[in-house]
Amino acid sequence: MQRYSRIWIYMISALVFMISVTGMIYYGYKTFYFDKEPVGTTHYTDHYVLISEEMGNDYWELIEAGAQQTVAENSGIYLDSIAPEKADNDQLLRLLDRTISMGVDGIITQGVEGERFVELVQKGTERGIPILTIDSDVQGSERKAYIGTDNFYAGQLMAQSIIEQTTDQQFVGIVMGRADSINQRERLAGLKDGIQSNDQIQIVGNMDSNITRIGAAQATYSLIKKYPKITTLVGMSALDGIGIVDGLGEIAPNKEVYITAFDVLPETLTLIDKGKIAATISQDPEEMGRRAMEVMLDIKQEEYVEGKIFTTTEIIDAAKVKQRGEQK
Ligand code: BGC
Repeated sequence: MQRYSRIWIYMISALVFMISVTGMIYYGYKTFYFDKEPVGTTHYTDHYVLISEEMGNDYWELIEAGAQQTVAENSGIYLDSIAPEKADNDQLLRLLDRTISMGVDGIITQGVEGERFVELVQKGTERGIPILTIDSDVQGSERKAYIGTDNFYAGQLMAQSIIEQTTDQQFVGIVMGRADSINQRERLAGLKDGIQSNDQIQIVGNMDSNITRIGAAQATYSLIKKYPKITTLVGMSALDGIGIVDGLGEIAPNKEVYITAFDVLPETLTLIDKGKIAATISQDPEEMGRRAMEVMLDIKQEEYVEGKIFTTTEIIDAAKVKQRGEQK
């Protein structure tokens, strides 16, 4: 009898042991197994970083998507994307400094005005880290190349669009992303250059949107209040045109204002289609990202790279929006 109960005890202990081992393996596997490995993080040899102007901005997400396309087409490289939470030059410079100190294989960043940027690019270069500017250039720095729009020319296109589409005297209010952004200054300079020989068109004032839609609506509100004679509003960064339409809808829904926007985010194109925005100046952020990453890989291969690579920009009006729709 005693013998039988001992056998039972052994059998039950063996069963408990097997259940525990199975449980340990199963839950251990669940805990440490990652269903989807983060793409490209495992077997890469080169680590690159994209520093955008602001987190969660639609335009910068297109740049990132373009850059990731090039990454996906090449093995062994990994691209991290970082940005200040809200557009802020000092924070971007701090991120750039930290990234250089980390010792990555290359950095693609928006160019920022001032000595500090130039110094940091020099520091990166001394450490063998190639730095490319995207979207805004700093020509006096040791960046290896700039990939993006010719922003002075884009400003001239804004002028051309106003000149072509209006007939009488125009008083222009400008909604800018940020006055301390290089591309905004270049676009403004191009716009001024484009209208200088035309005395029918006069700029009355400008205001920052801080590259947000709500900021653009508020800037519109302030501009119209301060200069009620405004007949034309131009938006100089990606969300400004949409914000201008919001702002006008609030403050002067029946006022006839000619609007030129910037960039081809889907909502801007819809507003052109609806006749609320007359035209926009296109940029190609995806192409910027794609090209920038390609240039980075060329540098890695020690190939020659152009110092300035301009991506396309053109005036997009209602007819062009239709064409683009049909091409899809
Ligand atoms: C500019 C970017 C800016 C973005 C804001 C674009 O037109 O080129 O510098 O960050 O607008 O949404």
